[in-house]
Amino acid sequence: MKVHRLYPPPGREVSGIYEDLNLPPPWHGDSARPYVIVNMVSSVDGRTAMEGKAAGMGSRIDRRTMRTLRSKADAVMIGAGTLRAEKLSLGLDELGGVPPPLAIIVTHTGNIPLEDHLVATEEQEVLILLSDRVPQGVVERLRELAQIMRTSADSTGAVDLDRALQALKAERGVGVLVVEGGPGLNHALISRNLVDELFLTVAPELLGGTAAQTLTLLRGPEIPSRGRPALELVSIHLADGELFLRYSLPRTPASSA
Ligand SMILES: NC(=O)c1ccc[n+]([C@@H]2O[C@H](COP(=O)([O-])OP(=O)(O)OC[C@H]3O[C@@H](n4cnc5c(N)ncnc54)[C@H](OP(=O)(O)O)[C@@H]3O)[C@@H](O)[C@H]2O)c1
Repeated sequence: MKVHRLYPPPGREVSGIYEDLNLPPPWHGDSARPYVIVNMVSSVDGRTAMEGKAAGMGSRIDRRTMRTLRSKADAVMIGAGTLRAEKLSLGLDELGGVPPPLAIIVTHTGNIPLEDHLVATEEQEVLILLSDRVPQGVVERLRELAQIMRTSADSTGAVDLDRALQALKAERGVGVLVVEGGPGLNHALISRNLVDELFLTVAPELLGGTAAQTLTLLRGPEIPSRGRPALELVSIHLADGELFLRYSLPRTPASSA
């Protein structure tokens, strides 16, 4: 399969996508929280799920790219909705030789089908992230399935994501975190200015669907113009009609800088 890097110019054929990426980038400096990247796939018409699932969107190269990004990270995080949607792995599969990243699932309800939906090898550690408002009975039940990290709650009682990221770095040594959605968790992180880069695969498909079925990259209230991140395009790769876009998100939204 031929892969072309289209941007930045000059365009040229390359041997792979993101394989030589160094994260965090040297200019990142010493931050109290991990370097956070979001990785997602969408159709050309902007949908991120088909019949409620992401499986089947994106090609074999997209799946390989997802694992390449995981191999650069200390941890991979998803929201509970993504785990409820389908069976999935947060590991490295064919990229043997590299230890698998810590798998993190964020939930408030504790309703996560870990045993049925998470495919994990014995060597992969699994951590459930909860706020300190979650009832003790729920915590005890989940403790039988995986490790637990409890952090302070935000005004809604959910995990205060800013504090949680700081705790992941300080207590678990997470320097680079890949977030693989879903749209609810993406929105929560991006609207709080907690994401450094977005990796988006645009699959050459048009899915259609009603407004109610149309899940995009972010699920949540419209982000006010003052808080919107000014995305900077970093690179574009093309492989068999599929586009691999990489954007950086400045730490301070452009309109409030
Ligand atoms: N195309 C792609 O690349 C891609 C990637 C991932 C997912 N998806 C699709 O996205 C859909 C799921 O979307 P979604 O928005 O429901 O999923 P989601 O973002 O994975 O999950 C949302 C849930 O995460 C938990 N959560 C988020 N922020 C939290 C916080 N601050 N504190 C505590 N818990 C928090 C809550 O779980 P509780 O409800 O348990 O409290 C919340 O309901 C599925 O159809 C999936 O296939 C697509």
